[in-house]
Amino acid sequence: MYVEMRHINKTFDGFRASDDVNFGIERGQLAALLGPSGSGKTTILRMIAGLDKPDSGDILIDETRVNDLPGSKRGIGFVFQNYALFRYMTVEENIAFGLKVQKKSRQEITYRVEELLELISMKDLGRRYPHQLSGGQRQRVAFARALAPSPQLLLLDEPFAAIDAKVRRELRTWLKDMIDRVKITSIFVTHDQEEAMEVAGTIILTNQGRIEQIGTPEEICKNPKTEFVADFIDVKLGTGHF
Ligand SMILES: Nc1ncnc2c1ncn2[C@@H]1O[C@H](COP(=O)(O)OP(=O)(O)OP(=O)(O)O)[C@@H](O)[C@H]1O
Ligand SMILES: [Mg+2]
Repeated sequence: MYVEMRHINKTFDGFRASDDVNFGIERGQLAALLGPSGSGKTTILRMIAGLDKPDSGDILIDETRVNDLPGSKRGIGFVFQNYALFRYMTVEENIAFGLKVQKKSRQEITYRVEELLELISMKDLGRRYPHQLSGGQRQRVAFARALAPSPQLLLLDEPFAAIDAKVRRELRTWLKDMIDRVKITSIFVTHDQEEAMEVAGTIILTNQGRIEQIGTPEEICKNPKTEFVADFIDVKLGTGHF
């Protein structure tokens, strides 16, 4: 397992945001954390990223317990819905940001930025500022910025939530292709069943701070283990998805 959560508990003022959370994700997998609003998805992601500390339990990345390792040392890139681009930086400068922090040489930065602009099909837009881009383009830049320092793990928290339905569907497919291409272990948060089914190889279903079920989209659709899971994915049943 590349990422493992073992008996993770987290409370906020007595409220259980994570209640004995256990799961593992293998290297190269794209897993979705799926569940209703308030079920604890972002809390899980923030603990993996080192932005929050669990009250108890172990977080392992590549077999190493990282509970006490600062987030910046965990080799993680993230794309959060509200983690906007730097407004006063161009696309190129945004993508270069993490590389400058790592004190890479100017030559190396130029090369990597070019490579990423190509990857996100925005080669000619490097000099633009975020306000000169569409929402979808901005999220592609956010994705490139997260990938620039070559993280081992990518965390995405509802990266397309603010984008309209049509573009969102295109971005979903785009993201899946990108992740397949760069082969990076990724965890994708969504409360949209359809989005999770389409994008992820593994779905981790959250409810009230607990994990209800883990499985492939097909397993979860065909064999929901609890009433909650059956209800939650009900929208997709009978639509010939599988
Ligand atoms: N910093 C905090 N202080 C107090 N309560 C918090 C804090 N962060 C999260 N919570 C609570 O923990 C619960 C889980 O929150 P979390 O943000 O993880 O849910 P979520 O599944 O990401 O929801 P959404 O789909 O709406 O983003 C919620 O009830 C939330 O109010
Ligand atoms: Mg959230």
